[in-house]
Amino acid sequence: MKIAVMPGDGIGPEVTAQAVKVLKAVVGKSQPLELVEAPIGQAGIDAAGDPLPAASSEIARKADAILFGSAGMPGDEAIPFPMRPGASLLRLRKELGLFANFRPALLFPELIGASTLKPEVVQGLDLMILRELTGDAYFGEPRGFGINAAGEREAFNTMRYCESEVERIAHVAFRTARLRKKKLCSVDKANVLEVGQLWREVVTRVGGGYPDVELSHLFVDAAAMQLMRAPLQFDVIVTGNIFGDILSDAAAMLTGSIGMLPSASMGQGTKGLYEPVHGTAPDIAGKNLANPLAAILSMAMMLRYSFGQAAQADRVERAVRKVLADGLRTGDIFQAGCRRVGTEEMGQAVVAALAG
Ligand code: IPM
Ligand code: MG
Repeated sequence: MKIAVMPGDGIGPEVTAQAVKVLKAVVGKSQPLELVEAPIGQAGIDAAGDPLPAASSEIARKADAILFGSAGMPGDEAIPFPMRPGASLLRLRKELGLFANFRPALLFPELIGASTLKPEVVQGLDLMILRELTGDAYFGEPRGFGINAAGEREAFNTMRYCESEVERIAHVAFRTARLRKKKLCSVDKANVLEVGQLWREVVTRVGGGYPDVELSHLFVDAAAMQLMRAPLQFDVIVTGNIFGDILSDAAAMLTGSIGMLPSASMGQGTKGLYEPVHGTAPDIAGKNLANPLAAILSMAMMLRYSFGQAAQADRVERAVRKVLADGLRTGDIFQAGCRRVGTEEMGQAVVAALAG
């Protein structure tokens, strides 16, 4: 198992360290584990003057999987886009062709009280948001700043998808739905945007090849509302890059905390990048306060998707369930009557729970 470890910025290093600790414990001596650490984000700038140093991107290319922490610095919007610490992640996704981003939103029963929604609305929540990751307004050209005809400053981005990009994510979505409840909801904005029209046409056409999967469509505004009103109606949601970015954060809150959410970014093969959804959280960085469970659960997704080790992934997920059941909580998921722990103690507890 050759794994590139990219802790990055903010709380990234703290939570990644816990994921690595649990990984070493779960793999044990059963097989050789090669971990290669590489700087990215501000750490990349500090080490080599580039948020995605060539050496780091080479390490990522050669690895079977990448464990990623988070990248970005407060206020980095002021830096030109490609040199921005946060953009390193976008460049890496693009370079490695990781177009399919799996963001499961699973409610651990122990955390039902941590959600801001009523328990009866979120009880049993288990949905998968599949976000297209290498197209859309994030990558469409032209983009930039300019001066309009009236001499005023303006800024522009281009929302763009070609048919093959929609097709390949649609196939992943239908295959994912097949392994779950055979229900897929495709989200777009076809009532206003041509991109949405194309998206809907292509997804519908691809769906012809999966007659066993029930396909529905929603406009993104309605999808956001339904996600808050009655999230259990969804099983797999597939959508474009920018809508997926937004809806996956919203879905995170259904589960109680974004500190619980893992993700996997996949290309055509088994190589993937595994990353907690939460980002850098600069306000709590370096204080041993961050919740490492999203990073640990991302590592479990790596075992499952890149290394085909479903049994080991199950073990990690069960260990996470156990520490929650034992009442251990970081600040983001704290509830009265539980024991407040720090990042390290939470990671250690998961290691200990692996034995059980
Ligand atoms: C995410 C993040 C990133 C994104 C940022 C950090 C560039 O919000 O992974 O959801 O927008 O894709
Ligand atoms: Mg996001």
